[in-house]
Amino acid sequence: MKKVTAQNDKCDKNSTGKKKTGCEAGQELCPKDGGTAQDEEICYRKRLEKHHDELRWLYMELYDNGDMFAELLDQMKEFYRERKSALKGMDETRERDPGWYRRNDMLGMMLYIDNFAGNMKGVESRLDYIGKCNVNYIHLMPFLETPKGRSDGGYAVSDFRKVQENLGSMEDLESLTASCHKKGINVCMDFVMNHTSEDHEWAKKARQGDGEYMSRYFFYDNSYIPSLYEKTVPQVFPTTAPGNFTWLEDAGHFVMTSFYPYQWDLNYKNPRVFNEMMYHFLYLANRGIDIVRIDAVPYIWKELNTQCRNLPQVHTIVRMMRIITEIVCPGVLLLGEVVMEPEKVVPYFGTVEKPECHMLYNVTTMATTWHTVATRDVKLLKKQLDIVSSLPREYVFLNYLRCHDDIGWGLDFGTLMTEGIGERSHKQYLNDYFQGYAGESNSRGELYNADPVTGDARFCGTTASMCGIEKAGFEQDAQAMELAVRLDVMLHAYMFMQSGIPVLYSGDEIGQVNDYSYKEDPLKAPDSRYIHRGAMNWTLAENISRPDTVEGKLFRALDMLEKIRRTEKVFVSNADTWTMDTWDCAVLCIGRYFEGEKILGLFNFSESDKIAWIHETDGDYVDLISGEEMRACGVRLPAYGFYYLKKK
Ligand code: GLC
Repeated sequence: MKKVTAQNDKCDKNSTGKKKTGCEAGQELCPKDGGTAQDEEICYRKRLEKHHDELRWLYMELYDNGDMFAELLDQMKEFYRERKSALKGMDETRERDPGWYRRNDMLGMMLYIDNFAGNMKGVESRLDYIGKCNVNYIHLMPFLETPKGRSDGGYAVSDFRKVQENLGSMEDLESLTASCHKKGINVCMDFVMNHTSEDHEWAKKARQGDGEYMSRYFFYDNSYIPSLYEKTVPQVFPTTAPGNFTWLEDAGHFVMTSFYPYQWDLNYKNPRVFNEMMYHFLYLANRGIDIVRIDAVPYIWKELNTQCRNLPQVHTIVRMMRIITEIVCPGVLLLGEVVMEPEKVVPYFGTVEKPECHMLYNVTTMATTWHTVATRDVKLLKKQLDIVSSLPREYVFLNYLRCHDDIGWGLDFGTLMTEGIGERSHKQYLNDYFQGYAGESNSRGELYNADPVTGDARFCGTTASMCGIEKAGFEQDAQAMELAVRLDVMLHAYMFMQSGIPVLYSGDEIGQVNDYSYKEDPLKAPDSRYIHRGAMNWTLAENISRPDTVEGKLFRALDMLEKIRRTEKVFVSNADTWTMDTWDCAVLCIGRYFEGEKILGLFNFSESDKIAWIHETDGDYVDLISGEEMRACGVRLPAYGFYYLKKK
């Protein structure tokens, strides 16, 4: 086994023989493939030494509690000790290649374990299918213990160390993550740290009046403080769960519940809460989780007279989480769930010196994409893509068309206003459009949390249904189906052209449509997000090799795009990207350049044939889809057509 000192000696000079400096020297790195117990001690100490002062400084700033800090350090060490050597080996490999997740072969898929394959063992037995989808990162939707009927899709956790019985056990999870790792698949899970279920043992004790546990939540014996909060804090679920507090009759107290009444907000002003939640986080990381999605992260710190969103202390906590990760399990990535406008999302990357999350969702681009589908006007999308392209290339975004949640119309209304498009009327138009009521729409879906006061509403539906596949199938209209499939494929092709990691929503690869059966389940009926959380239809999935079926057409098209994406280096996350004018408002042009290679993506967002009036005079291009050689000048695009033009 190599000793750290030997490693450092070897690494101390770079290829030119000059002494390396800082990170380049890799002085903080540990021996590859684990090491002896002594090596590991040294490795841990080095990581700790690197980060200790900053961690202590941040912790004391927030909590001013040396004993609790010492306890945190002890526990971190314990979790490092119990971390399996295979995981430690992975940590070390990734430490040596910190950009490992920025590669162009990364492709994610999010799935519900029960919907996809019944339980964890089922998922393990379906890894070949996941491989066939070219996916090397799966996001397992919430699977920890949660009360039936009061679960918010699993986002109300009653035990952070127990898997829902119907889905399996912690052993099954470890077996699944190990099998995934053997196949080069990363596993992502949610860490729901803003709140616990009211059935969590802390909540139960708090409810019984135990002060120690009440102090882990926000309890008030009268409405005075809650009413002050209500003055400034917006509502997350204005219709399905209005308000930010819940009155507990039996306890004679109000408790803060930003989400559903059964999801009690944790009080991170209490260091016990922070410490214990970090222990849960490390426990889960040690089960073999590669990517931790920090659920609802902007909400985790509350202050009176604020919106209780994105407060500076949230960033202190996320930075501490990042440091704890770097010390104990540096192979793990943090994915922040910040469903907000770009100015609020970007700070969660932190700075180059003090990074916070590794990855964030590209949520505004997603919503703007659907706005573009409904308006056939790429102007706003072009502007949004330019904003993203102007950000540091180290930032990794997760790009997606649909996820398990609704689409909130968080568009750049300031810009739309300059064209006379008002927020309220436009949201109304988009919601009408996607329900299939307006603007020659073929979409199907339902509203979510329509707020009668503000007139606001969000939208639910699968990609396929929103593209018209559901309607065309129902009406048995072959021509409409052709167009719907084209739109669906074009949207994926455009999504793959963006920088970052594309994430498919399970079922989208075969064009699964909305599932209305949730209405028959009284526990799900009030929450229309279940319309796009249907079970995987494995009978339809058998069609993937049949080119005459919708499933076959979509699967094959996506497969081709995914393979192009992972073989062409121009798709790496840190390539130059830009947009170009096409002089047709329905046609988007995205350029990418990396190490001498250039590609232009052209995407027609309308159901009419169009010409992209671009005029690239730098030579010949080849369309990577058809193999056809062409000029990048006045390119004719069929309805919902696209090209991946690579410079020869
Ligand atoms: C996140 C989840 C959402 C859930 C909420 C509350 O936003 O994506 O599904 O309702 O957190 O935990």
